[in-house]
Order: sequence, then C-alpha cells, then structure tokens
Amino acid sequence: MPKMPKLPGPPLPAALREPPPRPGDPNGKKTPLQEAAEAGITVVDWVDERTSLSGATRWLLFRKVPKGTNWFYTLGSATLFAFLSQAVTGVFLAMYYRPDPAGGAYESIRYVTNDVFLGQFVRGMHKWGSSVMVILVFLHMGRTFFFGAYKYPRELNWVIGVVLLILTLTMSFTGYLLPFDQRAYWATIVGVNINGTGPLLGPYLSDFLRGGSEFGATTLSRFYAIHMLLVPGLLVALIGAHLYLVTKLGTTAPPWQKAESSEELREAEV
Ligand code: HEM
Repeated sequence: MPKMPKLPGPPLPAALREPPPRPGDPNGKKTPLQEAAEAGITVVDWVDERTSLSGATRWLLFRKVPKGTNWFYTLGSATLFAFLSQAVTGVFLAMYYRPDPAGGAYESIRYVTNDVFLGQFVRGMHKWGSSVMVILVFLHMGRTFFFGAYKYPRELNWVIGVVLLILTLTMSFTGYLLPFDQRAYWATIVGVNINGTGPLLGPYLSDFLRGGSEFGATTLSRFYAIHMLLVPGLLVALIGAHLYLVTKLGTTAPPWQKAESSEELREAEV
C-alpha cells in the first residue's frame, strides 16, 4: 500500500504565540492587557516544561478537518456533553440517594425533589438528560452510518460505538428503577421479563439482574451498583478509546465531497 504523505502540522493557536514587541515603547513597559497575555504564556510554559502536555493537547484539539464538515458532525460532541451533564447531576443525586427498598429509596428521592435547594432542578436535568442522551446517541449513530464512517479504517470505532449504545441504554434501564415508586417497580419487572425472553443468554441475564429468582432488596442495590459504578466506569473508558480513535484517524468527509488535487499534497509527495 502506498505510504500516506505527511501533512504539515496545524499552526500554533494565537493564544500560545509570543506577542510582537510594541512599537514606540523604548522602556519595554507593558500594558496590563499585554502582561495578562504573557502571564498566560508563562503558566502554559511552566506546566509544559514539567509535563510536555502541549504536544498532546495540540494533537487532540488542533486538527485539520475535511471540507464539507457540517452541523451533523457535532452530534458526537453533543452526546459527550449530555454524558458529562449526566455525570455531574448524578454525583449530586448520589449525595442524597439511599438504595433501600423498604421506603428509604422513595423517601430520599422525595426529599431531593421537595426539600433540597435546587433538588428538583438537578433531578429534572438528570431525568430528562437521560432521554436526551439516548436520542443523541441514535442520531450520532445515524450520521456515522449514512456518511459511511463505519468503513475502513474506522470499523473498530463503530464496534466501540455499538458497545457505547448498549451501555447508554443500560444506564437508562437501571436508572429507571431507582426512585422505587410503583411505576419504576412494575416497569422494571416488565423490562427484566423482556430480557428473559432473549435467546440462550436471556434467562441468565434476567436472573442476574433480579439478583435471584425473586424481585427484591438485592435487585435495587444491584441496579444501583450497575447504574453508578459499573456502567459509568465502562462508559468513561470506552468514550476515551472512541475519542482517541477519532483523533488518530480524523473524521470522514461527507460522501458527496469530491477529492481535490491540492498544492500542499503534491508538494508533500515529492
Ligand atoms: C456515549 C456515546 C458516544 C459518544 C460520547 C460519542 C462521541 C463521538 C465523537 C465526539 C465523535 C467525533 C465527532 C463526530 O463525528 O460526531 C465520534 C465519532 C464517531 N462515532 Fe461516536 N460517540 C458515541 C456513540 C457512538 C455510537 C453508538 C456509534 C455507532 C454505533 C458511534 C460511531 C462513531 C464513528 C464511526 C465515528 C467516526 C466518525 C467519522 O469518522 O466521521 N459512536 N463519536
């Protein structure tokens, strides 16, 4: 296979460049604005000297994107934002939540909703945010499918995406039981029974989710552990791998975009 020509790196962003000397300033006296700008450079330099992180940051953030990139390409970042919002609001909810089926779970949610400052707002964000994330993940998957972004060399990122989709749905399903009201209880019984009808693994999966043959106290703590420990950990790790591959491979151009012979590429090939 022919070797890809190496493209020149993107330019350093303006904020990281040394400002030019001010004309007509023999004493080298700086304006407060200039001093503030240089303080920024000094801090970045200080951190970079000790960590060498600027290279990685440039690699991650300052990339060339193909011509024709449009609003549909923001759906992945929107999903990421929805996930981060869920993580932050979830941490606050976890500060009050008690996974106790004998009334404690329901009572702790009632307390958050009615008595905690901004509790109803944070709970609302988490509840509606979960639907937003599910909708966005499907739209993002649709975009990558219809733009052919699942093809070589991005197959692995598609496979990671499929696992991310399953994990996102698992978050929605396990979170639904946590308020432990009538709706949560009966809806989850229906959900677990539907799982049980799956081929081969179905019955094992529903037994595992119930934490035994009966729907009881273990079920709630099991759902809670899956919802706030197991799946978020997997999501963070896999989103990291997903974004690494996006950065490494770049994004695909829209299928209708025609290739252009560019001056830059011709020069790099010589
Ligand atoms: C938690 C869920 C997910 C997050 C946070 C996420 C995030 C992202 C981001 C930020 C990008 C780069 C920007 C873009 O193309 O939109 C991306 C690209 C991509 N994603 Fe996802 N994604 C998720 C789920 C999925 C799913 C469910 C699939 C498919 C089954 C998928 C497949 C892909 C592919 C193939 C690319 C490369 C697109 C290209 O090269 O043009 N992702 N993802």
